[in-house]
Amino acid sequence: MIKATEYIFPRIRILMVTTLISLSCFTSASAETGYEAWLRYKPVDDPVLLEEYRSMAGTIRVFGKSEIINSAVEELISGVTGITGITPFISAKYRSGIIIGKASDIPKSLCRFSSDELRKLDTEGFLIKRKGKRIIITSREDRGLLYGAFHFLRLMQMGESLKGTYILENPVTPLRLLNHWDNPGILPSGIPSIERGYAGESIFRWDELPVLNRRYTDYARMLASVGINGTVINNVNTAKNGLEGWKLLTPEYLPKLKALASEFRKYGIRLYISVNFFSPVMISGISDADPANSRVRLWWSDKVKEIYSEIPDFGGFLVKADSEGEPGPMKYGRTHAEGANLIASALEPFGGLLIWRAFVYGQKDLSPDRASQAYQIFKPLDGKFSANAVVQIKNGPIDFQVREPVSPLFGAMPFTNQIIELQITQEYTGHDKHVCYLVPQWKEILDFETHARGPGSTVANIISGSVFGNKYSGIAGVSNIGADPNWTGHLLAQANFYGFGRLAWNPALETEQITDEWIKLTFGNGEKVYSVVKEILLTSLKTYEDYTSPLGVGLMCNGGNTGHQGHFSPAPSSRVTYHRADRSGVGYDRTMKTGSGFTAQYNEPVRSMYESIETCPDELLLFFHHVPYSHRLRSGRTVIQHIIDTHTGGVEMVRKYYERWKTLDGLIDSERYMHVLERLRDQIGYAEVWRDSVNNYFLKLSR
Ligand code: GCU
Repeated sequence: MIKATEYIFPRIRILMVTTLISLSCFTSASAETGYEAWLRYKPVDDPVLLEEYRSMAGTIRVFGKSEIINSAVEELISGVTGITGITPFISAKYRSGIIIGKASDIPKSLCRFSSDELRKLDTEGFLIKRKGKRIIITSREDRGLLYGAFHFLRLMQMGESLKGTYILENPVTPLRLLNHWDNPGILPSGIPSIERGYAGESIFRWDELPVLNRRYTDYARMLASVGINGTVINNVNTAKNGLEGWKLLTPEYLPKLKALASEFRKYGIRLYISVNFFSPVMISGISDADPANSRVRLWWSDKVKEIYSEIPDFGGFLVKADSEGEPGPMKYGRTHAEGANLIASALEPFGGLLIWRAFVYGQKDLSPDRASQAYQIFKPLDGKFSANAVVQIKNGPIDFQVREPVSPLFGAMPFTNQIIELQITQEYTGHDKHVCYLVPQWKEILDFETHARGPGSTVANIISGSVFGNKYSGIAGVSNIGADPNWTGHLLAQANFYGFGRLAWNPALETEQITDEWIKLTFGNGEKVYSVVKEILLTSLKTYEDYTSPLGVGLMCNGGNTGHQGHFSPAPSSRVTYHRADRSGVGYDRTMKTGSGFTAQYNEPVRSMYESIETCPDELLLFFHHVPYSHRLRSGRTVIQHIIDTHTGGVEMVRKYYERWKTLDGLIDSERYMHVLERLRDQIGYAEVWRDSVNNYFLKLSR
């Protein structure tokens, strides 16, 4: 008997899916572009596993009916077909094989769930359990089924046996967002279609939308496969230098947004957009954008209504205000909280969120030390933001440097919803030209103890909502995706995208595990390839740091134009305001005693740790202290010797990567092998330029 909730997967869809699979198998056999990323579903070669997978996953029985469940089942069909070579049958009769459906929809005769299991499952969580000849994939809500399906396929791709499988997972972080810095509309000359994007044009084809293309689906699949549940599709800079992102709020764009939202919805992803604070003026010619003006309030609420009438699950807005030329409430003498609350109150009736960035600096009356400024502006506003307003804080107080301390704001705003902003795109870490695996950096940031509520008040626990009990919290990553065939420019940069998603799902995952997964999913389970890729990835951040900016010194790169070359090459002499190098020494004194006083923004014992040169960690020494070149580090080396040695050593490491990669010739398909080989070869040259520039600069200064 088929229960009312049981779903018979339409044959037509199955045919469609299998056709797609054969198409994609065909493409990948002829050329490995990297397009399939970690969703390659290559055949398993171990005969014992193959037998197990075929017997356990050869049939699928589906309970429930929704777009998201369709996506989960399509993915299972496509994945199982690729991995086992046999397309699974779908039927409402099967009592073995994969059984997928919400716990409330699966009949007890097939599987009983204990009350403990059901209690442990959160709204987005999933349970995968083996029961005799069945693999049950279940959840409380549809989204959990999708995440469960992707996880199940991950297990099979990694060659895990399904014996005794029992996995219950919930995402730790509620909001898991991607932030695109893609520029819609007509691009003024010299402005690329993605700000700080290094992987080609934007994937969003505004000229073609609302017509959709396959890439949107594959994009959504990738996001869902790592559990990302929201995406902000345009640049936070919406009007600067003639940009047209602000136009997304005009009627012309609404059908386009609606089309994207409808595709993303199938994968549990909510659509958000970045908006300009001056929208009422720019779009409707209202005389001002002052939060106190009732016409302005009405404008926002009408605009929001218009959006929700077409996109009922719209996520909300992201706003960069009073920052780097984007206008904000300060023009009217209003605070950031007043500005944020104006828009938040329009979104509130629809369950939308207003995400307000804390990346604000440069105003008069603030400390001359840029690191101190966001805290000075936002700390006094703690508790003043609306319940559906969220403050998005960059990981560090400066700007995505290879090394900087964690922003003190995380430990300073207990009454404010907070999201951390990480940068997946490698603006300051080598663009698409240098391999620089950022997961180890993000782990350090997430594990950082703010001591806001004593020990355990790590950034990870703050953004999961557990330290302050905020209603909304989460993590956002500035995307590194573009229209290049492999999505991220440098193939190894896919690991950053994957790693971001996995950490967003669970910040407690170990770097080692994430890295293992990515390598195996991307290159298969061969040991040699595994060990070389792992060695390169896990050392690459330190290597990059070694030949660029030592000891937390911060910006040493060229200027910040938004073109493709900005922030890429060394230019230490133009960055003295940041690194403060002179003849006597180097580093920015940010102590309370003799410097800018920035250290005071941290809770104890962090404050004292950074304040004292005795306890400040060496890797951040020059961020907090100005020291003579002869200052001895814990390694026993002087600062100047350290700079010279690490810059020389860093280049040697890149040479080693190149040689190690060469040993993989024949073990990886030639396209991806050559792609990485060429990049590593070029990276040697770029690293040498960095080494020579920085070493010569300091040798001259320090004599
Ligand atoms: C950096 C980056 C800009 C970006 C800004 C931001 O300054 O260079 O391109 O717009 O951060 O995060 O708003």
